[in-house]
Amino acid sequence: TLKLNVPSLITDSVVQQAIPSRATHGHKGSFGHVLVVGGSPPYIGAPFFAAQAAMRSGAGLVTLAMPDVIYPQLAAQSPTTIFLPLPTENGYLSIEAVKMLIEKLQTYDVLVVGPGLGRWPDGGHWLIQLLKQADMPVVVDADGLSLLKPHVHELAERDHPLILTPHQGEMARLLGTSVREVESDRLGVATRYAREHGVYVVLKGHRTVLATPEGKIWINPLGHDALAKGGSGDILSGMIASFVAQGAAPEQAAIAAVYIHALSGERCAVEKSRYSVLPTDILEALGQAISSVI
Ligand code: APR
Ligand code: MG
Repeated sequence: TLKLNVPSLITDSVVQQAIPSRATHGHKGSFGHVLVVGGSPPYIGAPFFAAQAAMRSGAGLVTLAMPDVIYPQLAAQSPTTIFLPLPTENGYLSIEAVKMLIEKLQTYDVLVVGPGLGRWPDGGHWLIQLLKQADMPVVVDADGLSLLKPHVHELAERDHPLILTPHQGEMARLLGTSVREVESDRLGVATRYAREHGVYVVLKGHRTVLATPEGKIWINPLGHDALAKGGSGDILSGMIASFVAQGAAPEQAAIAAVYIHALSGERCAVEKSRYSVLPTDILEALGQAISSVI
């Protein structure tokens, strides 16, 4: 059995140090380019939220790559992002799509893959091809985590940071165990997985846990059930990527993102109640949350 390090609590002052600083004379190139790969016919909002959150958290450019079949709807929603429609076969992303992405990868500083992506028979193979070629930090969320599971041992070939953002259910699936097992030992589960696979694990839920590959553990004391609404997780993955794009190390990016994300949810609930907060409200309030911390 593994002896755990003493966990640290994320606070305002920790986040002040962790959030990337901004130069007044900076241009969009200095603040990085995030690529979000996600979306499928039932899930058009997820990649939109991730991309929008990346912009709201300070990235200079955000490109949203999605299956071509949902491109028209997504393009109508968002004037702030660049679009990269990807070729599909029977409605799923084709192997041509991964080739196309790989050719363009040097354009981007960080990749988010998974929000709303869906799962398809060849999806794991599809994803691992992309991950092996992506010489940059990558955030894997949502369906990306399910697709990744059978291939997780192949990640050893990567030498750039990988940040996984599972909720309890996704963590249980990654481990082949139950949600109850995960919830009974959130610190141990996140830490062991992070160490064993050399990845950053953001185990979401009430009191989100961040575990680093070196065994460092952080706990986010903020956030409540106002965040428990579809779409809020997608916002978090976009925020983490955005801070990485602006130059934060993965650990610092995740620290700042989980705290500010939760703070934004709490602030929204003051006015709207914990019942009524929408992911779009959280997005709108990110700026106020950042201002109140820095
Ligand atoms: N207290 C604090 N934080 C909470 C709480 C709570 N009670 N409930 C939820 N949160 C936070 C989590 O920590 C996380 O940051 O809200 C976010 C929820 O993220 P997800 O569980 O990933 O939910 P989301 O992605 O928005 O919901 C739809 O779930 O199964 C996936 O792939 C599916 O993306 C789809 C999705
Ligand atoms: Mg999710």
